[in-house]
Amino acid sequence: MCGIIGYVGFRNASQVLYEGLKALEYRGYDSAGIATQRQKKIKVIKDSGRIEQIHSKYNFLQLSGQVGIGHTRWATHGGVTKQNAHPHCDCKKEVFIVHNGVIENFDELKMNLIAGGHSFTSETDTEVIAHLFEEELKSTKNAADAFASAISKLSGSWAIAAMKKGQQTLYLARNGSPLIIGVGRGEMFCASDVPALLPYTKKVIYLENGDRAILTSGKCLIYNKEGMPAERAVHYVEWTAQMAEKGGYPHFMLKEISEQEEKVKEALAADVSAAVQLLKNQKSFCVVACGSSYYAGLVFKTALQAGTGTVVDVIIGSEFANLWSGKDKVVVAISQSGETADTLAAVRFAKGKGAKIIAITNVAGSSLYREADANVLIGAGPEIAVVATKSFICQLAVLLKIALLLSGKKAQLAKLHGLPSKIAQLMKSSEEIEKIASILCKRKDFFFIGRGMAFPAALEGALKLKEITYLHAEAYPAGELKHGPLSLLDENVVVVALAPSSQNLPKMLSNIQECKARNAQIVIVSDSKEAFEKSKLCIKLPPCETEEIPIVYVIPLQLLAYYMATKLGRDPDKPRNLAKSVTVE
Ligand code: F6R
Repeated sequence: MCGIIGYVGFRNASQVLYEGLKALEYRGYDSAGIATQRQKKIKVIKDSGRIEQIHSKYNFLQLSGQVGIGHTRWATHGGVTKQNAHPHCDCKKEVFIVHNGVIENFDELKMNLIAGGHSFTSETDTEVIAHLFEEELKSTKNAADAFASAISKLSGSWAIAAMKKGQQTLYLARNGSPLIIGVGRGEMFCASDVPALLPYTKKVIYLENGDRAILTSGKCLIYNKEGMPAERAVHYVEWTAQMAEKGGYPHFMLKEISEQEEKVKEALAADVSAAVQLLKNQKSFCVVACGSSYYAGLVFKTALQAGTGTVVDVIIGSEFANLWSGKDKVVVAISQSGETADTLAAVRFAKGKGAKIIAITNVAGSSLYREADANVLIGAGPEIAVVATKSFICQLAVLLKIALLLSGKKAQLAKLHGLPSKIAQLMKSSEEIEKIASILCKRKDFFFIGRGMAFPAALEGALKLKEITYLHAEAYPAGELKHGPLSLLDENVVVVALAPSSQNLPKMLSNIQECKARNAQIVIVSDSKEAFEKSKLCIKLPPCETEEIPIVYVIPLQLLAYYMATKLGRDPDKPRNLAKSVTVE
């Protein structure tokens, strides 16, 4: 929900922190701040607003020093104000803290600290950490011990970077929220995510839950939750700095949509053997995920369940504890970030009952990756826009591959390799889609309908539209309209009908007719001439196999949402109220 970064070394810290925050802005973008230290003086610049706005108002680069911390915020405790922006400090302005996560016992801690004479300047939960650190420093001169003792009083989730006046040192702690260390030569970094480190190093250490670390320019000491020195492996990151740049596109979202032709090839080549091995003898299993990843789970279920006899239960992360039977021996967790708190909580719940976990994720080293028994990496590369596009399409490619291998449909699997050329072909209709977007962006209400494999695609299309245009959009299995939602249709409503040529088409055409009879504006997304006759607004797609439908039909809907958002003046990369990695339950 927030992004944190820290630096200690020989460079100008503010430059590293400012650039790093821009790379992390997708994690939160309502406020930002940086603190650096030079000659025992710590200076802070922070405010509400986007990083660039704050930079043009104050100039982050005026902060000097070779050690510092930075934060980009997505408010949870306390409104979006300058006072609530991080870094936060203690009463004496000697320790400065940035934090991602939620301190669940902050009310009680704050009361005790106030009773002990501390005064607070913000409404955040984070500020208690700074005052606890200050309090502990009263009984020990050793800052590492004081920090450890302060952290031991917290409950909740955290990734913390702290700095103390007079020291060229960073104190880190991790529990539940991501925190990685970047290892350089004569310099050390920490960040919530890899893209912030890519310009400087490819060597990273993933801290484990309960870990603390002490970083100086040449050294990194790590302690586990028992306080014992711990060895953590150094991983080499394959991603490049260029991958995390816009590369001439106006927005990351458009760049990431455009990469899908290539990324699907990589996803189809992914090593899925560990997952297939664990699933092949299971008569039933469960899938857990949130948001778009949940819809990818529905595609997996549709591809696998019909005709194979395997029962696949797909459960939303936040409802898992309420719904899961507890009987599955294997649970498949889908999460592009690998850090979604709801999915991780479900995974831990299932592990506690003895289930084996298969993770389908984009981030090697993420919490999910490390907690799983088997991993499949979807190979989408860094996805910077908040909304899922290429990560969703790569999830689908990998899950379809697993489903087709499990059901022994080798011929269909071979046909999936035709997807990249179909994607290339449909990307050529982007001008047409942009024209339709200009017409539709004046409307306020949207229904997306589909049957079979087109239904999860409809769900994803509606989600993309509402996330980045803030217009009302919902999705239904087309046959469900007549059971209630049809009462909402009139000339003001747009129905986006996903009507691929398949055994579902005749019924789909009747459903479209039902909507037309209520004067709804129909948009046909199809490869069928018969369907095109139903409306003047058509997105014409290449014919495709049943398994390919979700991929071929979602991409034009991503483009539709993108163009509508830009025409409405919205920022498609950073939609209001949303953050890429949802690390709270
Ligand atoms: C939609 C979107 C979200 C995520 C959801 C799960 O565009 O990005 O709905 O799909 O928050 O995230 P991951 O896949 O990281 O677990």
